[in-house]
Amino acid sequence: MDNILKTHKILKKDFLNKDDLVFLLATTGESFQALLDKAAEIKKHYVGNIVYYRGLIEYSNICSKNCFYCGIRGGNKKLDRYQMTDDEVIEAVVFAYKNNYSSIVLQGGERNDKSFINKITSLLQKINKATDNSLGITLSLGEQTEETFRIWKENGARRYLLRIEASNRDLYRKMHPDNKKHDFDTRLESLYTLKKLEYQTGTGVMIGLPFQTLEHLAQDLVFFRDFDIDMAGMGPYIEHEDTPLYQYKDLLLPRKERFELSLKMLALLRIILKDINIAATTAMQAIDPVGREKALKAGANVIMPNLTPVKYREGYLLYEDKPCTDEEAEHCMNCLESSIRMAGDDIGYGKWGDSKHYFNRINKSK
Ligand code: 5AD
Ligand code: SF4
Ligand code: FES
Repeated sequence: MDNILKTHKILKKDFLNKDDLVFLLATTGESFQALLDKAAEIKKHYVGNIVYYRGLIEYSNICSKNCFYCGIRGGNKKLDRYQMTDDEVIEAVVFAYKNNYSSIVLQGGERNDKSFINKITSLLQKINKATDNSLGITLSLGEQTEETFRIWKENGARRYLLRIEASNRDLYRKMHPDNKKHDFDTRLESLYTLKKLEYQTGTGVMIGLPFQTLEHLAQDLVFFRDFDIDMAGMGPYIEHEDTPLYQYKDLLLPRKERFELSLKMLALLRIILKDINIAATTAMQAIDPVGREKALKAGANVIMPNLTPVKYREGYLLYEDKPCTDEEAEHCMNCLESSIRMAGDDIGYGKWGDSKHYFNRINKSK
C-alpha cells in the first residue's frame, strides 16, 4: 500500500499496536507531516493550545551514580561540584512565584544519604512558606525509598519525574554500569511506588541512543501506555565527550535525524495518551534553535524555563551544546514568550497546569 494511505489508515485507528508505532516512527515527508498534524489536532482537543511553565532549578550536580551517557556522572572528575544554597533556591522560587510560573521542578543528581533527604524535606517546607503553598512542586531527584517519597509528598511535592531512560532491559543495561546502583527493576519499582503514593508520575526516555532501534522506541511508547503515565519528558540523546558512551558516537544517527525521531516520539505519545502533560525538553532546543517550537507543534504542552543561577549552569551540562547557559531567567522569559506565541500557543500563567490524565485516572480508580 502507498505509504501515505497506510499512514492515514493507521492514524484513524483507536488503538495503535507496536507494529503501527514502528511504521509511524519510520515515516518521512508527507506521512511524517500527517503524523504531526494528527498530534496537533489531538493536543488542541484534549489539553488545548496552552503551554504551562515549570521553572527548572538544577539544585546540585553531585551524583552518586555513573550512567554512561551523562556529563555529570559521579565518575566525571573534570567537573566542579556544586549545591545551591537554600537562599539561592528560594530566590529562584520567588522569581517563579512573582512571574506567575505557578510550578517549579527541583532537579539534581541522585543521592540517598540521610542528610540529603532531610535537606530536601526542609527545602520543601521553606519553598512552601515563601510562596504561601501556591506553587506546584515537582521533584526529579532519582530513585528513593517509599519512605522518602512519602515524606517528600507530605511536605508538599505533588509530582515526580523519573525517566526510565530506556524501557528495554537489555538496552538499559548497555547504558548503565552492571551493578546494584543501576538496576532496571529498582527503577521500575520506584515508578510504581510513586504511582501508589498518588504522585503525578512522569517518566521518559532518551531518543537516538547508540544500539537503540525503532522497535525499542515503539516498546517505550507501549511502556508509557501500559504504565499509564501522567507526564513525560523525553528528548534526543546528545553525546558528551567526558562519558563512556562517547566511544560509540560514530554509531549515532545524524543530529537532525535524532531530532526528527524525537518529534515523532512526542507526536505518537500525544496520539496514544491524549491528555497527559508532555514537555518540550531543553535537549530538543540544543539540536535545533527552534526545536522547542517544533516540539509544541508536535504535541508538547509544557516548557521548563531554566531558573538555575547562571554561575552554576556550566556545572550542569548533561550533554554538549546545552542552550541558555549564559542567559539570566529574565532574558529567557521574553525569548520564550515570543517563541511560544509563534508556535500558536498561549501561556498558562497563574495555573498549575496539572496533568488532566492524573485526575481522570484517579477518578476512574475511585
Ligand atoms: N543526552 C540527553 N539527555 C541526557 N540526560 C542525561 N544525559 C543525557 C545526554 N547525554 C537526561 C537523562 C536524565 C535527565 C536528567 O537528563 O534522561 O534523566
Ligand atoms: Fe546521575 Fe541522573 Fe546523570 Fe545518571 S543521569 S549520572 S543519575 S544525574
Ligand atoms: Fe533562554 Fe531563549 S529561552 S535565551
